[in-house]
Amino acid sequence: MKGFVLIITMMLVCPFIKGQTPIVIPTKHTQMIFSVDAEKNLKYDYYGDLLSSVQSIYDAGVNLNADAFPCYGIRSTSGVESLRVTHADGNRSVVLKYLSHESHQIDENITNTIIKLKDEIYPFYANLYVKSFAEQDVIEVHTELYHKEKKPVMLYEYASAYLPVMANKYWLTHFHGSWANEFIMSEEELLAGTKLIENHAGARNTQTDNPSFFLTLNGTPSESEGEVIAGTLAYTGSYAFKFTKTADNKLHVGAGMRGTASEYKLEKGESFTTPELILTYSKGGKGQASRNLHRYARNYKLLGGHTERKILLNSWEGVYFSFEEDDIVGMIDDIASIGGELFVLDDGWFGNKYERNSGKQGLGDWDVSKRKLPSGIDNLIDAAEKRGIEFGIWVEPEMINTTSELYEKHPEWITQAKGREIAKGRGGTQVVLDLSNPKVQDFVYNMLNDLLVKHPRLDYIKWDANADIVNNGSNYLDSDKQSHLDIEYQRGLRHVLEKLRQAHPNIVIQVCASGGGRVNYGFLPYFHEFWPSDNTDALKRIYIQWGTSHVFPAIAMASHVSAAHNHQTGREIPLKFRFDVAMTGRLGLELQPKDMNDDEKAFSKEAIATYKSIRPIVQFGDQYRMISPYENKHLASLMYVDDTKEKAVFFAYHLTMNNEEKAGFAPFKMVGLDPGKNYKVVEINIDKYNKNHKGKLLNRNRFTNSGKVFTGEFLMEVGVSLKFKREYESAVLEVVEI
Ligand code: GLA
Repeated sequence: MKGFVLIITMMLVCPFIKGQTPIVIPTKHTQMIFSVDAEKNLKYDYYGDLLSSVQSIYDAGVNLNADAFPCYGIRSTSGVESLRVTHADGNRSVVLKYLSHESHQIDENITNTIIKLKDEIYPFYANLYVKSFAEQDVIEVHTELYHKEKKPVMLYEYASAYLPVMANKYWLTHFHGSWANEFIMSEEELLAGTKLIENHAGARNTQTDNPSFFLTLNGTPSESEGEVIAGTLAYTGSYAFKFTKTADNKLHVGAGMRGTASEYKLEKGESFTTPELILTYSKGGKGQASRNLHRYARNYKLLGGHTERKILLNSWEGVYFSFEEDDIVGMIDDIASIGGELFVLDDGWFGNKYERNSGKQGLGDWDVSKRKLPSGIDNLIDAAEKRGIEFGIWVEPEMINTTSELYEKHPEWITQAKGREIAKGRGGTQVVLDLSNPKVQDFVYNMLNDLLVKHPRLDYIKWDANADIVNNGSNYLDSDKQSHLDIEYQRGLRHVLEKLRQAHPNIVIQVCASGGGRVNYGFLPYFHEFWPSDNTDALKRIYIQWGTSHVFPAIAMASHVSAAHNHQTGREIPLKFRFDVAMTGRLGLELQPKDMNDDEKAFSKEAIATYKSIRPIVQFGDQYRMISPYENKHLASLMYVDDTKEKAVFFAYHLTMNNEEKAGFAPFKMVGLDPGKNYKVVEINIDKYNKNHKGKLLNRNRFTNSGKVFTGEFLMEVGVSLKFKREYESAVLEVVEI
């Protein structure tokens, strides 16, 4: 890492002791290095490029020599501590010393290293787990804390990892948002002081800020160049990321659970495992770091990372809560007739005493509405089966309305602060169940299990969660463990998910939380995909999906074509553009097909067929982001390239008219191809039906030289010219080796 050359004096750093081998954790192109000093302190020395000689780091004096897991209480005063506890006797300091370490080769790609630390006087232990994924250049870090003190130890801060960095400049890319506006990319230089990114919403921890960061060292963020450390926390509850630049120009990154929302009383003999911080280092800019994460996600985190995702129609924006059997059968018919593969019945199908006709009531009462669907779910599954497609259904198992039969029976099952009036969410009646309570866990599990056992032909579930934990208290937890709610809620949820996955390993489940409230690696092991945002406006989605793609692979990102006017923004965007945006993730539709005219239906059918032909490249290929909509307000472009670099698919979007450039743009360069291969470039997904306001057919091709052959080198160095005249025009190019 170039930044290390800044540490020039050997006097400031303590070289590792002769004869003591550093602890080296390599991946294919990177390595993380720890060492132990003469006082048995564990030192964090290096994270960066794989070097042929580890010794050179020490000989050159560029080892960071930072405390590997800084603790509060003795000497440490800079506020970057990863651990702050109060021992059983009231002592508030921790001094960790190295005990031992061991490495286990799990398979040819994964090595797990455990570094064991113990307080120098107290029987208080911290084990650092560092797991490397060689091919993907990913390293997971987490800690395990336990003790043998006579009474409980209070944990106040307990990060998953501490990461010191030394560079000339630090640029932080992070992702923030709000409902219908999630995962918005923000890039800023980190100057003196602390930047805190956190969320303590409890059940939806990614609607505001996402627990992910990209740190560009010694320069400004770039897709293709420069040193980048990227990190994402696999945790579904409260978290905090702290970036502190100290006077010595060092950057200290602390990442993990958020202590202030979850002080924890650690009993003797109990061990506390923090969530994994997933890290990758890239010398090829943010793009390479993203591709590392995508490959890691598909191979190790995401459920079914190697299985193609189906093209679906979701009923939500098409009919919302108001439908009857015929409407649904009609939608099933329509999606099947244009080549869709799955129909998903969203909210509104349940509740009898309190029929679910709005967000105000019925949540918690999971019996099928007799009025809306008198022949039940199986009848709808039959309808889907008859048309050769699959059927899925929406649930929101962790939350209920106070206007529900369930609440009448079990008012004590909700999260609630003793003696306080209950704060309510959506519809003025929504509350969150207390998943720390095993009885509630059983209810949630049984509800889902019953649904799947009763309807074994269900193929897909959309698991929603439309509330934060705003009532901070549990009727189940003891009074001295009320601060455990956030942690116990997540444990309860995980328990349910694990049990469900054991019983039903194959059912495809989407995680959703009012849109993108649960876009998180902590969920990926149980889910096949996530819903990134309730905002289905294609223009807005370009920005949301651009951000999301930094951390998550396209296969996991549900992206739906919805109606124009768009229901969230009112924008009118041509159908082709809407498809071209949705095709960069897991394509779906979310509209009433009945409202489409014949031309729109015909184009949709062709677009679905086109997507099927490029689906393996989008869902399993490497993604390259080229023209950023955040930098260039008029354009965006990205592409996907398969493993062998034989096939690629390129997308470009014209976002707004640029009056200065009068619709003329520099050639669009491609990335990720093999410079030595010859590729045929063909424009696909052309809308033959697109007419102007007078009904005249519009010029359809954006790439007038479609079908010509170019070298990979030419496409990457020079590029191709695309003709964009109006706003919301877009092009999809298939690039195939010949
Ligand atoms: C949330 C989801 C939507 C939809 C509604 C149903 O807002 O994000 O996609 O399922 O709930 O109530």
